[in-house]
Amino acid sequence: MSSNPNLAFQGVTLPEADFAWIPKAAAIARVAGGKLRDFLAQGVATEYKGDVDLVTIADRTVEAYIQGALLTAFPSHGIYGEEGTRDRLDAEFRWYIDPLDGTTNFAHGFPHFCVSMGLEHRTEGLAPERDGPIVAGVIYDPMRDELFVAERGKGAFLNGKPIHVSAVPELGEALVATGFPSRKRHENPNIHFYQEFTLRSHGVRRAGSAALDLAYTACGRFDAYWEFNLNPWDTAAGFLLVEEAGGMVTGFDGAYRRLDSREILASNQFLHHEMLGFFADLFAGRDLSPLPSPADYAARREARSAAAAGLKL
Ligand code: IPD
Ligand code: CA
Ligand code: CA
Repeated sequence: MSSNPNLAFQGVTLPEADFAWIPKAAAIARVAGGKLRDFLAQGVATEYKGDVDLVTIADRTVEAYIQGALLTAFPSHGIYGEEGTRDRLDAEFRWYIDPLDGTTNFAHGFPHFCVSMGLEHRTEGLAPERDGPIVAGVIYDPMRDELFVAERGKGAFLNGKPIHVSAVPELGEALVATGFPSRKRHENPNIHFYQEFTLRSHGVRRAGSAALDLAYTACGRFDAYWEFNLNPWDTAAGFLLVEEAGGMVTGFDGAYRRLDSREILASNQFLHHEMLGFFADLFAGRDLSPLPSPADYAARREARSAAAAGLKL
């Protein structure tokens, strides 16, 4: 068992050699999450980056904290952050950080948001347009004190306990998740996907944090998750968590997903094929459920009420 105090978080009982980056990164995420909690308690003003894309002093302050703390912990690593940090992008290791994933929730006092940090290993000579593997991921939810961590090949953990994707075999028995972009929403087709997946599953949740959607897929709270228009800081850590928890992550065509691919489908792997089939149908405009007109809807409801009343007679 480890004698390293860094590994004492949440009673992890893995051999010391098992984690290369997680102890320091998790400590940074915890402090960052504590700062978010403090900002939430004190209340912060909201600014607009565009459309309904919100930002607060909490996003910027916490990114600056993570930037400084990563530089101290891993001086040779690069950093690519949502709020503009671009440090040492030619480094062998690069962190993708979202200091506050779920800003809209945060700004409204809805307690569902997190810190997300994913580490890419870019081997020497890797072409700029190629991805290296994600080798570590940390997602911390400060409101529930939930710390999700993974390193490649070493499994995924929630508060020190191993996590696995669910075993739900088909969409009809699944709880799934999605999100909507905060820019150019009128151009996004996801509302049609939302409708169709709502009709075909136990339900679709739109909880407002892509990183937590992925972490929840990794630990089986969700059976699958998809979204359009994401960025590497939203998905890098969660991507690894899902894979290390036994799940599958691809684009909407089932192909390998690059870090800067905007679309993502993550699942427990059993639902993947079925969901890809629906994506293909939806993109092709096949099998869409027709919407009733208001008059049709009212007529159907009245017919049902009349039938029920007839049964009571
Ligand atoms: C957003 C959240 C949200 C997703 C948006 C993201 P932010 O990130 O992850 O769930 O639907 O697409 O932009 O702006 O809160 O960091
Ligand atoms: Ca985000
Ligand atoms: Ca953010």
